[in-house]
Amino acid sequence: MANAYQQVTQDIASGEIGYWDLPSDTSLRHDIQKWSPAIHVDHIVVLGIGGSSLGARAITEALASEHTLPAPVGRSPSIWFLDNSDPTRLAQLLQTLDLTRALFVVVSKSGNTLETLTQWETVRQRLEAANLPLAAHALGITDPENGYLRKVCTQHAIPTFEVPPNVGGRFSVLSAVGLLPAHLCGVDIADLQRGAQSMRLQCEHPQLEQNPAALLAALHVHHHLDFHRCIHVYMPYSDSLRATSSWFVQLWAESLGKIATENGQKIHRGPTPVASVGSTDQHSLLQLLMEGPEDKLVTFVQCNRPQKQLTIAPNQGPLQGLVGMDHHQVLLAQLQGTREALARSNRPSVTLEIEQLDAQHLGALLFLHMATTSYAAQFYGVHAYNQPGVELGKTLSFETLRQASTHPRPPRASRRKCQIHLDF
Ligand code: PA5
Repeated sequence: MANAYQQVTQDIASGEIGYWDLPSDTSLRHDIQKWSPAIHVDHIVVLGIGGSSLGARAITEALASEHTLPAPVGRSPSIWFLDNSDPTRLAQLLQTLDLTRALFVVVSKSGNTLETLTQWETVRQRLEAANLPLAAHALGITDPENGYLRKVCTQHAIPTFEVPPNVGGRFSVLSAVGLLPAHLCGVDIADLQRGAQSMRLQCEHPQLEQNPAALLAALHVHHHLDFHRCIHVYMPYSDSLRATSSWFVQLWAESLGKIATENGQKIHRGPTPVASVGSTDQHSLLQLLMEGPEDKLVTFVQCNRPQKQLTIAPNQGPLQGLVGMDHHQVLLAQLQGTREALARSNRPSVTLEIEQLDAQHLGALLFLHMATTSYAAQFYGVHAYNQPGVELGKTLSFETLRQASTHPRPPRASRRKCQIHLDF
């Protein structure tokens, strides 16, 4: 812990861990709160992938879940996240959306990501064809200087926010990448920052027992390296935290899955995170967790109070005894039952308990996970803030497309792989 603490503290001071200071960045918050679109916005479409999508999605799904429904609800805009090259969703949206009331938030830290740029170029063409000004219908969130997206925004006078160069994609949820879409959907970003800031202070404690991030990291690494529990299942008992589960998976996998230690020793190390949600996945994963290989550690997130109260309706059937109870009580009972069942089979779990899922608690939870990742990287001995594997995949995808454009044949997958084609 002493070494890990020293290294994390040093990385914060040197600016290597840029996300650490975001909770106290009031000027960022004011800039976001001051900005308003030049048009009336009914639809927000976020074009971005990985860290440029998952964080904003986690916040908006948790705190503004009505707005993710397919039709505008109430006065706030509906929001879509397009984070896949698969053209289906984009094509559907472009067919159905009223473009005159749509704002496209284009997010890419590098400004050069294939998925995001191909989607953006198609959107740009549609907006231009409809005579809609790009500067009013688009907003860029990208590197302050570099990358193609930055160039495009400058060229078309599209307003922009910055991704600080020392904040990696999967750590950018509390930068404009996460805060701006959240604010546009009516989330209180001051409260998000407040919650994150209070957690940040706790995560700066030099003693393991007093530092929730270090403690959680130590627990995970200990179970992995000493008990071979290399699969880390993230299971919030909250439908609103589904996207947070996916965000956590990216954070944990990309930061900790590394070929070598910081001093060059080859280890091919990294836990395998699994995204799930309770109670839904009690009916899919739980059997495996209970009786399958003893290689998993489960993290539950328990929200003590519901975001919405809903009483169980009177009925004559087997639920008779539950009349007058809240649906949330059912959810908590299921969490309690699952945890107890695991414990009886000697399967370990951790529970992160929050009073209620609101902006402050979510800010704290998100910061806790990022700080835990920083400490876990120290305990594993790996560098948390690069992703050479992801970068190689991006480069090779571009190469494949370039080859296909010079030799116009459909790109072929490597012949060394076993392939099964389903041709009908
Ligand atoms: O965490 C990361 O660094 C990656 O997952 C990126 O977020 C992802 O590849 C998208 O990159 P960019 O934001 O540069 O478009």
